[in-house]
Amino acid sequence: MNNVTPLVEMKDVSKEYPGTCVLNALDFSLNTGETAAIIGPSGCGKSTFLNILGTLDTPTSGSYRFKDRDTSTLSPNELAALRNRDIGFVFQLHHLLPQCAAVENVLVPALVAEHPDAARARAEELLGRVGLAHCMDARPGQLSGGERQRVAVVRALINRPALLLADEPTGSLNQEGAELLADLLLELHRQEGMAVVIVTHAPAIAERFGRVFELRDGRLAARG
Ligand SMILES: Nc1ncnc2c1ncn2[C@@H]1O[C@H](COP(=O)(O)OP(=O)(O)OP(=O)(O)O)[C@@H](O)[C@H]1O
Ligand SMILES: [Mg+2]
Repeated sequence: MNNVTPLVEMKDVSKEYPGTCVLNALDFSLNTGETAAIIGPSGCGKSTFLNILGTLDTPTSGSYRFKDRDTSTLSPNELAALRNRDIGFVFQLHHLLPQCAAVENVLVPALVAEHPDAARARAEELLGRVGLAHCMDARPGQLSGGERQRVAVVRALINRPALLLADEPTGSLNQEGAELLADLLLELHRQEGMAVVIVTHAPAIAERFGRVFELRDGRLAARG
């Protein structure tokens, strides 16, 4: 009975650099609307894994299917379209455009949208939902770190992606920020229903997501 096609499915994925094997015959799959957290020490390959999941990087070997399409058969333009439509990214650094207002930053992935007015309305609605109604026109330099991160989350959601990927800011100093980010992602997941994969250093944060994996020796091991 359980023959649902996964949203993403990696099989036997390896990523090698000269002298190192970062991912080693890794398997991973996630269904539509599921959430997962990836933990593991610095340098174990979490960002590498997330970048491959987001089709920003390619495996050295193995297969990666997104919505049942073999990503290795897609052209760069097809991959860019898939990313724009189906995947939202929250990076370790925010990468907001400093010269643009918050609402304009949010609308960047929607620049090719068919319905710009609807995108603008959604941007304003989402910014309001994350408590930034009063900051629509502020530039990133006028926002706090946490506010900037919320703008980046909203930007990742503007096109209603099927998959949201978040690479948590590292370092214990950011523990509170990491918890706030997890709160926000889980709340938006409940409201919007997208699948979420978060990378985190903190087991306490990871446990709040549907499935928890530890990246170790280039593979993902389920925890708990
Ligand atoms: N372009 C590259 N060339 C060579 N080695 C690389 C390259 N990119 C990453 N690596 C190596 O791959 C390993 C995994 O890096 P990655 O950034 O995925 O780790 P991480 O788990 O995200 O670490 P952190 O928690 O510090 O962000 C590291 O040893 C890194 O040096
Ligand atoms: Mg990383």
